[in-house]
Amino acid sequence: MKVALIFGTRPEAIKMAPVFYQLKNIGIDAKVLVTGQHKEMLYQVLDLFEVKPDYDLEIMKQGQDLSELTSRLIQKVDKVVKDEKFDYILVQGDTTSAFVGALVGYYNQIPVGHIEAGLRTGDIFSPFPEEANRKLIGNIADIHFAPTVVNSKNLLQEGYCSSKIIETGNTVIDALYWVKQNKSSDLEKIKEKYNIHNKKYILMTMHRRENWGKPMENVLQGVRKYLEENKDLYLVFPMHLNPLVRESVNKVLEGFERKILIDPLEYLEFIAIMDGAHYIMTDSGGVQEEAPSLGKPTLVLRDTTERPEAIEAGTAKLIGTSAGNVYNYMKLLEGNLYQEMSKANNPYGDGKTSERIGNYLKNRRK
Ligand code: UD1
Ligand code: UDP
Repeated sequence: MKVALIFGTRPEAIKMAPVFYQLKNIGIDAKVLVTGQHKEMLYQVLDLFEVKPDYDLEIMKQGQDLSELTSRLIQKVDKVVKDEKFDYILVQGDTTSAFVGALVGYYNQIPVGHIEAGLRTGDIFSPFPEEANRKLIGNIADIHFAPTVVNSKNLLQEGYCSSKIIETGNTVIDALYWVKQNKSSDLEKIKEKYNIHNKKYILMTMHRRENWGKPMENVLQGVRKYLEENKDLYLVFPMHLNPLVRESVNKVLEGFERKILIDPLEYLEFIAIMDGAHYIMTDSGGVQEEAPSLGKPTLVLRDTTERPEAIEAGTAKLIGTSAGNVYNYMKLLEGNLYQEMSKANNPYGDGKTSERIGNYLKNRRK
């Protein structure tokens, strides 16, 4: 059985690496087709996990537009899929690469397995365009690997048959456990490298399209106001390589001293920096899933989330993007709320998600 893993961005690489190794372990011929939607941020992860793509379509352009990216990708992915005659295609999540991988699979009548299926906010524009991508992939998929019970319920409500939904957990936890077991990180050395040793810091990331511009600037204004009043705290912000993100960050934080603005961190370093943070502020999906395992309070800088599990577990709060709300929640974290949110809890998996996905494919082969 020849299975293609099609992906192109940083989070997909993190979440697909454990699946790739599991398929190899059970004797499935797994091929990696990276679209190259991301370049530097993708290879940071592939190198760490020692995954060598069989194909790299090198599609990335600076400031790529969604329509252009999608249309260029369809033809390039289609060519590889036709040449290789895969028996099965796996895509993960909700990116443009995942959507195109699924669509091309469908056009070539190859069954598609959707990893991280069933996440929904109910708002087609938030996250944009990911909410539509994940629904469209769902329509095409042969099987839905749903991380949690919430996700499988979403799919059942949309009319998908229970026999096509497998509750697996999220492969992000497999990746996290793998890194903890196989790659030791020295937090103190990493902190020294970024000049944050002996500093109390808040870790922040922001990159979502619906937050570009004004919402991101509002958040940063709230953060700046709070930090100007709290002189023991630093802000560490590994900035996404998207120039629009950097523009907003540089604009609002200009002249503010206690900031450490850095390039995207290698995954291993990022996990260590998360572990050492006082708390986390983010609009990232993956970070929302990892933070509860590390017992880090997380303020989610969005109006919606498809990951209610961490909020229900008490480790995350959905706080929106207004400067006032951001400031108020930062202030609230000075009190009891901080202890309440710091309890380690992991609603996203037991580290065996890839095994379950592999088992499905192995049994399907017979
Ligand atoms: C994409 C995904 C989003 C995911 C995010 C993870 C879509 C529609 N969105 O958004 O779901 O959360 O990846 O990070 O697929 N860039 C570089 N080097 C890199 C990566 C990005 O320079 O290695 C710059 C480029 O200018 C690029 C821009 O970042 O044009 C945006 O990248 P793109 O993949 O279009 O969207 P993301 O915002 O990263
Ligand atoms: N991450 C990383 N380096 C960074 C920031 C994030 O390795 O500087 C990891 C993080 O641990 C998580 C993933 O990237 O696993 C999340 O990616 P991103 O926020 O880009 O995308 P999303 O999850 O929102 O789709």
